[in-house]
Amino acid sequence: MAYDNILVETSGQVGVITLNRPKALNALSSGLIRDLGAALDAFEAAPDVRVIVLTGSDKAFAAGADIKEMAEKTYMDAYLQNFITQGWERVTVCRKPVIAAVAGFALGGGCELAMMCDMIIAADNAKFGQPEINLGTMPGAGGTQRLTRFVGKSKAMDMCLTGRMMDADEAWKCGLVSRVVPLDDLRETVMRIAETIADKSLPITMMVKEAVNTAYETTLSQGIHFERRTFHATFATDDQKEGMAAFIEKRQPSFTDR
Ligand code: CAA
Repeated sequence: MAYDNILVETSGQVGVITLNRPKALNALSSGLIRDLGAALDAFEAAPDVRVIVLTGSDKAFAAGADIKEMAEKTYMDAYLQNFITQGWERVTVCRKPVIAAVAGFALGGGCELAMMCDMIIAADNAKFGQPEINLGTMPGAGGTQRLTRFVGKSKAMDMCLTGRMMDADEAWKCGLVSRVVPLDDLRETVMRIAETIADKSLPITMMVKEAVNTAYETTLSQGIHFERRTFHATFATDDQKEGMAAFIEKRQPSFTDR
């Protein structure tokens, strides 16, 4: 399928979605969000795709929601369209792992989109921020909620109230991103991580993802309970038998996703 605002390719077991509105620094227009949703639907349905990578250009992952598109919206437009929620959170319901590979600007909705992914790998030129306050508005796709859970109240307040950007090093130190690599190494590093995950059992990968995400939705005791029940469920799989047999027999496991 051809898209207007993104590029889509498959490399081995990894589906790669590249945001592609270079003239607007990948601003997240409604057309781009529609394309992104359709590409995620296609990769989710493709049996040969086991991990998804979401990335942008060297200059911008995404500079936020499209300001030119939303500038004239009224309250009633925003309310009736359920603006920002509709389509945006498609990435959060994806069951396959989604890795954000972020270079350059990840601002406003761009930062929020990266935070919807399962992990963020940043290039050393990455800049994260929630600058909506400078536009007389506020984060509307999870910035006040996800950023606060990821980096804590004080830094989330700092970012959302001042609208300043944080560089990759600061983002790594406060736990927003899992790794920082030189810009030239970003794609290779992310593809290596994606292939490593793709080689595991897909159903077990999905269970792990669901369990980690549960930590953000429940109390500790409910989360531990969910984890334990899911851990028990892994013993119903062929892949648990294979994984443990391979360890004991000192060989590599051969998972069948069963
Ligand atoms: N929406 C629409 N167009 C955008 C855009 C955005 N979010 N960000 C950049 N662009 C466009 C610019 O208008 C410009 O287009 P023209 O050449 O047609 O004028 C082009 O991209 C290049 O941008 P700049 O000339 O500004 O590039 P720069 O290198 O000087 O600055 C920047 C880069 C600091 C990222 C700056 O573009 C900027 O501040 N962008 C806006 C960032 C922002 O405020 N994001 C939050 C949006 S609101 C939001 O996201 C709400 C939400 O919670 C979902």
